[in-house]
Amino acid sequence: MRRRERLAAATASIACALALFTASPAPAAQGGHGPATDPYFPLDGNRGYDVQHYDLGLDYTPAAHLLVAEATITAKAERTLSEFGLDYSGPQIERVLVNGAAAPYRWDGRKLVVSPAVPPCRGESFTVRVGYRGEPGPIDDPALGIYGWVTTEDGAVALNEPDGARSWYPVNDDLRDKATYTFRITTPTGVTALANGEQQGAPVVDGDRTTVTWAMAKPMASYLSMVAIGNFRVTRSLVGGIPNTTAYDPAGAGDDSFLHRTTGEVMTWDAARFGPYPFDSVGGIIDPSGVGYSLETQSRPVYETPPDEGLIVHEIAHQWFGDSVTPKSWQDIWLNEGFATYVEWLWQEDHGGPSARQTFDDLYATPADDPFWLLKTGDPGRDQMFDYNAVYLRGAMTLQQLRTVLGDHDFFALLRAWQEKYRHANADTGDLRRLAERISGKDLGPLFQAWLYTEGKPAPLS
Ligand code: TRP
Ligand code: ZN
Repeated sequence: MRRRERLAAATASIACALALFTASPAPAAQGGHGPATDPYFPLDGNRGYDVQHYDLGLDYTPAAHLLVAEATITAKAERTLSEFGLDYSGPQIERVLVNGAAAPYRWDGRKLVVSPAVPPCRGESFTVRVGYRGEPGPIDDPALGIYGWVTTEDGAVALNEPDGARSWYPVNDDLRDKATYTFRITTPTGVTALANGEQQGAPVVDGDRTTVTWAMAKPMASYLSMVAIGNFRVTRSLVGGIPNTTAYDPAGAGDDSFLHRTTGEVMTWDAARFGPYPFDSVGGIIDPSGVGYSLETQSRPVYETPPDEGLIVHEIAHQWFGDSVTPKSWQDIWLNEGFATYVEWLWQEDHGGPSARQTFDDLYATPADDPFWLLKTGDPGRDQMFDYNAVYLRGAMTLQQLRTVLGDHDFFALLRAWQEKYRHANADTGDLRRLAERISGKDLGPLFQAWLYTEGKPAPLS
C-alpha cells in the first residue's frame, strides 16, 4: 500500500473501531485484497468480503449487441473495507456506488478495485452498485476455448465455466463464494430471455421493450450463472412438484420434446439415488452457440443441439455433483466431471446397458504406455482441466475403484452422505476421502494416491 492508502485504511479502521466501541463485536483487521484464491486461476477471487446476492439488471439489444447494465452486489464485510476488489472484464464502467454513495475506483480491464468513501466495517452488510455499458464479448482462451458472454445469431448466451462471469458482470469469482441471484432482463419485445431458477411473474411490457425477472434462490457459484437471450420456444410443466422449463431455438435442428421429457425422468431417477434434487426448478436450453460443449448451468443446463440421453444424464447429474456440491478449487474438477461421467455409467447399468464394472474393465484394458494414463486425474493442470481421458473417464474409474473397495452398500451411502453433508456448499478431494474412510472404516490413502495423484496406469487392486 502507498502512504495515502495506508492512512485511509488506518482512518477507516479507527472509524469502525470507534463505531464498534459503542456497538459489540471484535475489532477490524488490515487492508489489501489478498492473495490468489485458486492455483489454476490466480487472478480470480477477492478477499475481505462474502457476497450474499447479485441483482443483475441487464438491458440487451441483440441487433446492436448492446448491453446496458446495472449490477447490485450485496455483501458482508469480513474486515474494514477501505478498499476491495471485484473480477470484471466486461464493457465500459460508468459509475460505482457503495451503499448508494459514489465511490472512487480503478479498473485495469481485469480487476475492479473500489475505495469506498465510507468503508464498510467488519460484519456489516453493504451494497456495491456498478453501472456499465457497451458490447460484451467472450473470453477466447487458447486451451479452454470460448466462454463467458457469447453472441449468437439472434441474441446471446452466457456460459461461464470456469471464470467467464467477469465478461458480463463484476463478480467475486471464487468457487467458495456462492450467492443467490436475481436477473432482470430487458430486451426488445418479442425476444425471449431465460436465466437460472424460476421466472418471477409475467414479463412486463413497457412500450417496445419487455422485462422478465428470473431468480435463483439457492446458493450458486458464479461459473454456473447463465442468461440466454434470443428467439426461443419455451415448454413448461411440473415434475416432482417443481417447474420443468425447457426452451429451444427454432432456427436450430429439432426441438425440446425429448429434452423436456428426459430431464424430468433423469431428475427423478437421480433423486432416488443421491438425495433430493437441490434446486427449486429444473430444465434445459438448446441454443446453437458454436462453443462446442454443453454446460451444467444451475437448474437449467445449456446444450448446443438437441442432446441425447447420455448428455442429459451427465448435465443433470452435475446438479448434484458440481452445482450443489462444488469443488473448493479447480484442481478438483474431477469431482465434477468424474462423478457426472460415473452417473452416466450407473444410468447405463440400470437401463439394460453394460455394468459400470464392465465399462471400467474396458477402459482399464488401455495399455500402460497409452497417453490415456498420462496426466494426474486429481491435478491435471489448468490447461488440461477438461481432459476427457484424465478427468472424465479416469475420474469415473476412480469412483468405480472406490465402489469395488467399499462395496455397494457403503459406496451408495457415501454418495448420499456426500450430498447431504456438503449440499449448497464446497468440498474437496480430502473431504471425500475422509467421509469414505469414516463410512467404510478403511484406509483409502493408497487408492486415492494411485488413482488421483500418480501419473501412469495404477496397478490392479490386490
Ligand atoms: N463442464 C462441461 C460439461 O462437462 C464441459 C466444458 C465446459 C468444457 N467448458 C469446457 C469442455 C471447455 C471442454 C472445454 O458438461
Ligand atoms: Zn460435465
